[in-house]
Amino acid sequence: MNTPAPDTHFAPRHILGIEGLSSGEITCLLDAADGFVALNRGRQKKSNSLQGLTLINLFFEDSTRTRTSFELAGKRLGADVINMSVATSSIHKGESLIDTAMTLNAMHPDVLVVRHPHSGAVQLLSQKVTCAVINGGDGSHEHPTQALLDALTIRRRKGTIGGLVVTICGDIAHSRVARSNIHLLNTMGARVRLVGPPTLIPPMIERMGVEVFHDMKKGLEGADIVMMLRLQLERMHGTFVPSLRENFHFYGLDADKLAAAKPDALVMHPGPINRGVEIDTSVADDIDRSVITEQVEMGVAVRMACLEAVTGTAATTPAAKPKRKKKARS
Ligand code: NCD
Repeated sequence: MNTPAPDTHFAPRHILGIEGLSSGEITCLLDAADGFVALNRGRQKKSNSLQGLTLINLFFEDSTRTRTSFELAGKRLGADVINMSVATSSIHKGESLIDTAMTLNAMHPDVLVVRHPHSGAVQLLSQKVTCAVINGGDGSHEHPTQALLDALTIRRRKGTIGGLVVTICGDIAHSRVARSNIHLLNTMGARVRLVGPPTLIPPMIERMGVEVFHDMKKGLEGADIVMMLRLQLERMHGTFVPSLRENFHFYGLDADKLAAAKPDALVMHPGPINRGVEIDTSVADDIDRSVITEQVEMGVAVRMACLEAVTGTAATTPAAKPKRKKKARS
């Protein structure tokens, strides 16, 4: 569980979700991540703040961006990084999630990054281990580092998050990215709109402080940011859209629908993108509007900031504050 923290520091030991983080804590992580962008763009990309520490990536679900960027983030900070391949682990011999976690914990890692198909699994695991845990995505619940990297991308491009109109479109019902972004954007003072067919928008989601639209052009009117989501077919039990072609017709982002948003609106997508299903190639590859690859770049910087924050190695965390020297006795 995220524990309450002083507003301008990041104190929680785990990062399990955005829900419960204050705007000060989010700003603290974004500021730290901003500092890593330049390091990552330079030729010499190493810092040694995590030297001697061990990071284990434990992914029970497919991943390209999240796993690779956590690995890079850990290595750039000087940590030893292990990627546990679930496909070749004892999970397939019947070992439970908790037993796997206890086994890894016995090897004294400092951070576990966990992705799991079940909502709540990462929080449960965090209660059984003695190291810090970062949620790399749990079911359709939360994906905190994705929301942070989205926020960093927006803040760097627009200068602020507060006051912006952000429209999130597509399969909201199965998306942990949508949920984490709704929490973060609301906490930072943005206005959040959701667009999708009724089958893919959870009932009562307005309670999260969002506006719901089923007509994409209306939802995009005057938007500063357009965030597209793919259909999460692996989480769907049953049929939620008549056909992929019809989904694209009504809810796929193309130049015509994008024209309803502000002329300088940015197009975002957490990836992986499915061209012709939720986004047209001409929009996804439009270098003036699409920041999809920039989101990937920000992902490494954000994960570096998160790793430092949970290990208490960041300059801004209370744990890393220089200790006052004891006065010598005379
Ligand atoms: C997202 C995820 O896994 O939740 N992808 C990611 O982390 N970049 C979104 C998705 O899979 O559609």
